[in-house]
Amino acid sequence: MKKIAMLGTGLIGTFYTMSLHGLRSRDRVIHVYSRSGERVKKFAQDFNIPKWTTDLKTAVSDPEVDIVVVGLPNNLHKDAIVASAEAGKAVLCTKPLARNADEAWEILKIVEKAGIFHGYLEDLVYTPKHLKAYASVEKGAIGKVIWARSREAHPGPHSDWFWKPEISGGGALIDLGCHCIEIARHFIGKDIRPVEVMCWADTQVHPIEAEDHAIGLVRYANGAIGQFETGWSFRGGMELKDEVSGTDGSIRMDNFLRTGFEMFSAPGKSGYVAEKAETETGWIFPVGDEVHELGYNHMFADMLDAIDNATKPLEDFYDGYIVNEIMDACYRSIKSKKWEKVELKEWRGRDKVEPLSAFREYDDKYWLVKEETLADKRKKVILKDKKTGDIIQKEV
Ligand SMILES: NC(=O)c1ccc[n+]([C@@H]2O[C@H](COP(=O)([O-])OP(=O)(O)OC[C@H]3O[C@@H](n4cnc5c(N)ncnc54)[C@H](O)[C@@H]3O)[C@@H](O)[C@H]2O)c1
Repeated sequence: MKKIAMLGTGLIGTFYTMSLHGLRSRDRVIHVYSRSGERVKKFAQDFNIPKWTTDLKTAVSDPEVDIVVVGLPNNLHKDAIVASAEAGKAVLCTKPLARNADEAWEILKIVEKAGIFHGYLEDLVYTPKHLKAYASVEKGAIGKVIWARSREAHPGPHSDWFWKPEISGGGALIDLGCHCIEIARHFIGKDIRPVEVMCWADTQVHPIEAEDHAIGLVRYANGAIGQFETGWSFRGGMELKDEVSGTDGSIRMDNFLRTGFEMFSAPGKSGYVAEKAETETGWIFPVGDEVHELGYNHMFADMLDAIDNATKPLEDFYDGYIVNEIMDACYRSIKSKKWEKVELKEWRGRDKVEPLSAFREYDDKYWLVKEETLADKRKKVILKDKKTGDIIQKEV
């Protein structure tokens, strides 16, 4: 059994605690912190948590606590992690790790110097669909990954602080791009260096300073491309969808909204439908088990197993740091309207990578470019002469 201090009682503190206490779990949140005495007491009562406090250090330094989970606004991650390092506690932090790459790097150095366990809570690489898709990719089911697209968009966040860049670090890009960038990076290969980015962003609909819509490309050292689409400007609920294309196949996934579960309700009595749902009447799109389908269960299982076995989890603060660096380069690209280099303070992956080409030999003379059966039943091949470079077609 692991004993956990939960920092934050908002949306993510709630989902995390639901996941940690889910079903017959043996792990427990034993101490919860929030700045509001009333809120923290109610949260503790709702989740059967024995201790609650409005003093962060009291929760973190509780001698009974093994693990600190940080579920606070982005500007408070660093202080909470410093407190965890000082108390010598394992620390798990929500996304984004920090408001920018310099802050993320400082955080990484703090935990590494303290020698404490650190896990980056990027739940969307732990959704059941992502895990299954990733296992297939690893076995070579779609060949080499050449493109991964991840889209997360909804009508905008639920708390004031997200909308203030000095607290959050930015707009839709920092809030949602961190998920999409890491999803694509995971499929392409976390040991392959992200080299440069091109990003567009604008403030299209909301009366705010930060971007409410951002779309970008991340180019990796082997030539693969990660594409992300993020928006606080999308109407209709929360879209979470991913696509992966490889030299030998492709994958397409909806993690939310369009999952194959659709309901029509005229009175709309359920009250809560799913995160960021815009309506509870008419056609609605509930989600079977939200904490499971959003990846929280597999994520905490991986984190807690890694702590038990003294191994590295799938995602740690180095991954959080890389994501922050990619997003910093995106913000530079938004301004310059040019490709911008991803400037890593330290690269821990591979320096040499294999090219993505998947040439297929037709015979001694030709490469096979393409084969296709046409509507009139003819079968054609397009071939390239290995010596002359000529492209020809013939029927077979
Ligand atoms: N899928 C995910 O991984 C996911 C989803 C949502 C949010 N998040 C992240 O979780 C963190 C919290 O987001 P949220 O959605 O729970 O926000 P929220 O607004 O719902 O809750 C924030 C919590 O922090 C507390 N808080 C706010 N300002 C504070 C202050 N100045 N001092 C002390 N406490 C303060 C609030 O009282 C509340 O308990 C953010 O970093 C966000 O990016 C992650």
